Amino acid sequence: MNEKIYLDNAATTKVDKEVVDEMNKFHSDKYGNASSVHSLGQEARDAMEKARGIIAKSINAKPEEIYFTSGGTEANNWAIKGAVWKTEKKHVITTKIDHDCVLNASKWLEKQGIKVTYLDVDKEGFVDLEHLKKEISEDTAIVSVIHGNNEVGVIQDLEKIGKICRDKGVYFHTDACQSYTKTDIDVKKQNLDLVTLNAHKIHGPKGVGALYIRSGVEIDIFMHGGGHERKMRSGTENIPGIVGFGKSVELADKKNIKKMSEMRDRMIKKIIDKIDNVKLNGPEGYNRLCNNINLSFNNIEGEAIAEYLDGYGIQVSTGSACSSHTLEASHVLKAMGLDDLCANSSIRISLSKFNNEEEIDKVLEVLSDVVIKLRKISPFK
Ligand SMILES: Cc1ncc(COP(=O)(O)O)c(C=O)c1O
Repeated sequence: MNEKIYLDNAATTKVDKEVVDEMNKFHSDKYGNASSVHSLGQEARDAMEKARGIIAKSINAKPEEIYFTSGGTEANNWAIKGAVWKTEKKHVITTKIDHDCVLNASKWLEKQGIKVTYLDVDKEGFVDLEHLKKEISEDTAIVSVIHGNNEVGVIQDLEKIGKICRDKGVYFHTDACQSYTKTDIDVKKQNLDLVTLNAHKIHGPKGVGALYIRSGVEIDIFMHGGGHERKMRSGTENIPGIVGFGKSVELADKKNIKKMSEMRDRMIKKIIDKIDNVKLNGPEGYNRLCNNINLSFNNIEGEAIAEYLDGYGIQVSTGSACSSHTLEASHVLKAMGLDDLCANSSIRISLSKFNNEEEIDKVLEVLSDVVIKLRKISPFK
């Protein structure tokens, strides 16, 4: 097999050709600094404001509520730490299945004397809303719940969580890096105060993201400097990245959600029909990200499956790309009740609009051979 089959789109995506073309103009010709008063600078500023407008519209926000960042990690850190630093309140609520950047920011805050509650999830990964209601107190500064989970694809009901937080007068932040453009985000309907977005999961460039901050929401500055982004986030703006981010949002097409959901469901069915003892982690249907498949294969290591598949030019991952730096079982699968063996036997297949049925059939063929081979030599029998 010569052509690579890329099925790790939750880690990152191929940048669209149109996005690259648009960005290149801002590297080579229109390279001005958006703070400069001359025409080259103003051209850069106009392009940035156009991108801001596109992103704001896509989540039903106002352009002045969008602040560009260096990506999802920065936006998540800013939202949570910024909310805590701006208040006397000393309690944060997040979930056991949030991304490492939220969890590690929370753990850091714990060392600074902040109490953090990590909400439980059920076996499909849905947050326990009763637990949330019970935990919110007068001392809670912010609730942060991941929208679409990067490992198992479960999509939380933002509207319900947002309503609980709004009724109790607590800020609600969501990390929407995985769900953005794959399912609806409407900051008004879903009662959102802060939303993290990034570009590289949606065929845009790496190193650029945004934080939506609802007008009136007060969080502290994270990056001090020359007063960019309406004095809230300093640093010369990454104009090519921001322009590319805007273009990738402009190119996002709902038709691709349907295409990916159908491919996802056919692939899950084919794998479960063809291979014995396979378990789908996370929910089925519309509460699952349209591009996410996470499966546990009894008695074999996900790591070994992924390595074998790579040998055939098929790229999938185990858990999230970030947690693959550690050898620990996925915190998400463990929170959903899987034991270490089952959690370690999982792989994540994440699709994009560039995948097709032919590729899916090839993967099925190879995967089934790989699983048979590995089960034969497995010590866990
Ligand atoms: C859910 C989620 N949040 C945050 C991030 C971090 O985003 P970035 O890579 O832009 O810093 C990622 C990417 O791995 C992610 O999947």
